[in-house]
Amino acid sequence: MAGVAIIGLQWGDEGKGKITDYYAGKVDCVVRYQGGNNAGHTVIVKGKEYKFHLMPSGVIQGKKVIIGNGVVVDPSVLIEEIESVEKNGINVDLMISERAHVIMPYHRLLDGAGEKALGNKKIGTTGRGIGPCYTDKIARTGIRMGELVNENMFKERVAEIMKVKKPVFDAYGIEIDEDKMIEEYASYGKKLAPYVGNVSYYLNSIIDEKNVLFEGAQGVLLDIDHGTYPYVTSSNPSAGGIFSGTGVPPKKIEKIIGVLKAYTTRVGMGPMPTEDNTEYGEYMAKKGHEYGTTTGRKRRTGWLDLVAAKYAVMLNGIDEIAITKLDVLDGLDKIKVCTGYEYDGRVTDEFPFSSKILEKVKPIYEEFDGWDRVEGIKRYEELPKNAKRYLDFISEWLNVPISIISTGPAREDTIHNPS
Ligand code: GDP
Ligand code: IMO
Ligand code: MG
Repeated sequence: MAGVAIIGLQWGDEGKGKITDYYAGKVDCVVRYQGGNNAGHTVIVKGKEYKFHLMPSGVIQGKKVIIGNGVVVDPSVLIEEIESVEKNGINVDLMISERAHVIMPYHRLLDGAGEKALGNKKIGTTGRGIGPCYTDKIARTGIRMGELVNENMFKERVAEIMKVKKPVFDAYGIEIDEDKMIEEYASYGKKLAPYVGNVSYYLNSIIDEKNVLFEGAQGVLLDIDHGTYPYVTSSNPSAGGIFSGTGVPPKKIEKIIGVLKAYTTRVGMGPMPTEDNTEYGEYMAKKGHEYGTTTGRKRRTGWLDLVAAKYAVMLNGIDEIAITKLDVLDGLDKIKVCTGYEYDGRVTDEFPFSSKILEKVKPIYEEFDGWDRVEGIKRYEELPKNAKRYLDFISEWLNVPISIISTGPAREDTIHNPS
């Protein structure tokens, strides 16, 4: 009995929602520890598609779901998600940390204004106010859920903060109707009050007896510390984020599962060495329906990058890998995998610290023969020999076993524990 984590090993959208839902059947509760509604996690069960931005994906399995202190919460989005899940006849047993920070309307406005000011150097954020909310958290000018649900505390906190924020709003020409904002947010506070509690105490009281699943959002390469800075998100999707983002101590996490898409996608700006703009990239984007779950933007698509994946595996102490979207490669005559970067006349398998360097590296590829079809296969033995060869290569190169293979978007299109 202990914690298991599910972490995206690339630039997000690896299929964490599907794998979380699949795994959630075996656990008692599912916890989000970072990010906010920049995330979009898709789960397909019995032909019905669910998209979650804030609610942990385990909710469909009827599990207790928890939003940790490391998450930034847009209250109106969360209320909408609670109502939509309940409308589908699913019971919502939710607890939100009183220490989680609240996304305010001005955070969204500042997100847009910041991007505009960056011009052609913009990050390509989701525009959900994530960066500005985390900025306020670090600057100690944030508002937390525990304050939101207590009207007096909330008003007092808003008054304290507005003084500090005013020059920032003025600089960007942002106007805030403070009374209207307080009224709107106080009503959210009333709706969310029954769910808000002390998550750290709760999790520590159950973690020795129950199975707890930690659902990462985004991916390691978008990590504010370890990712392709500045083209990153503003939190730590990596394993370290679990401890700071929930209050559960490191030794309580028993297993970390890395989710790796069989190829690579990225939304927004920033370097992506294996991006492929030929008909191969187009094929994968089309077959994989690579459009963002949150913003609908087309995802940039390319080959699997094992240099980046090895870096992500190292940073997180990945115990097992879940490979997703293997079926998207069905029908390709050849499949390429990047195993090195050439830069300045030298070949390296180390992921560089600078996005400026990463932009210039030339990927070194190994080439594999393709296969006809893995779509919908549910037994490892039934996989075509070339698909097994591709998986073996990945597993050996990363030195991590592959414990889950996903061959389609639905819960049942999953192979567990291949030999
Ligand atoms: P997340 O953000 O990591 O949860 O991933 P998203 O939900 O944003 O994007 C993954 C997309 O791929 C979703 O539309 C899933 O339904 C879909 N998906 C997940 N696993 C598979 C798979 O094995 N095969 C295919 N074809 N689609 C998948
Ligand atoms: P899930 O959990 C893919 C990207 C944005 C942008 C950068 C910063 O579904 O995998 P932000 O709004 O966070 O300040 O944007 O991060 N990004 C994601 N890309 N999947 C996500 O989440 C993402 N969340 C943020 O596109 O490049
Ligand atoms: Mg997503």
